[in-house]
Amino acid sequence: MYPLRRNRRLRANSAIRHLVRETILTPSDFLVPLFVVEGHGVKEEIPSMPNYYRLSLDNLGKEVKELWSMGLCAVLLFVKVPESLKDNKGTEALNEHGLMQRAINTVKSACPDMLVMTDVALDPYSSYGHDGIVANGQILNDETSEILAQMSISHAEAGADFVAPSDMMDGRIQIIREALEDEELTNTGIMSYCAKYASGFYGPFRDALESAPVNKANVPKDKQTYQMDPANRIEAIKEAHMDVDEGADIIMVKPGICYLDIVREIKNEVEVPVAVYQVSGEYAMLKAAAEKGWLDHDSVMMEQLISIKRAGADIIASYFAKDAVKLMG
Ligand code: PBG
Repeated sequence: MYPLRRNRRLRANSAIRHLVRETILTPSDFLVPLFVVEGHGVKEEIPSMPNYYRLSLDNLGKEVKELWSMGLCAVLLFVKVPESLKDNKGTEALNEHGLMQRAINTVKSACPDMLVMTDVALDPYSSYGHDGIVANGQILNDETSEILAQMSISHAEAGADFVAPSDMMDGRIQIIREALEDEELTNTGIMSYCAKYASGFYGPFRDALESAPVNKANVPKDKQTYQMDPANRIEAIKEAHMDVDEGADIIMVKPGICYLDIVREIKNEVEVPVAVYQVSGEYAMLKAAAEKGWLDHDSVMMEQLISIKRAGADIIASYFAKDAVKLMG
């Protein structure tokens, strides 16, 4: 008799497909990135990110309550800093009454159990649009890490549960961990962007925060001396091990879809949770194709998210979080 095994039996109807499904998305998989601006009553759509907004603090409070009601229980905060407050050293990042510090407070007041993670890098505060201090056409590593450690303390003191260094300086996880310990901020976690690639997919994010590297003499025009080369795989594993050894509680791979091989390899290598950031360009690409009627938005969105989870993501940072949860019903 042929064939003894017919695999289509397990695909015959939705009940059996449900029963044998290996990967299931739930609201608690998601980390929701939020962009915060000064002002009151502000909800500005980001031109290259349709249906995604910059929010002032009052609207941030409303947004996190809505997220919580949908079962979304973690946010990742980014701030858009006025040009007048930017300098080479990101001095404003350490202002205890700065926008990030107030945003943390706003989220915790509106929704005390919401997990708050904060972006730690100089770029939104940098007059040159770099994640570190610029000197003689270079990005200074150790001097930058010291500021990142101070920034982390400031966020933790404001109430952040986790700090998320996204800068890719060497050694910063250890420096941040030690600084937090010295201040007795022992419960503050670190989610390290350990394999962050120098990617073309960050464009819309830089529009959202107006944080792109500036075009000036003696300022590197891109981030290739600190973010990773998309061609490299083994280097990502090295980064993952080093960040775990230095004290990272969670590590992250970024962007998402193009790097799922890296996600799987890292997931097989380390014992800490692995996060994946499906970045702004990935969001923009699908929105644009859907707007043209070239792709079906919802099915492609869910396919991408499930693929990220199947590849090994324990946490998914995604601008699609709300859309996806609405579809989960
Ligand atoms: C900056 C930072 C970037 C993103 C998160 N943190 C941009 C960059 O490195 O230039 C990108 C996120 C996205 O594109 O959605 N430290």
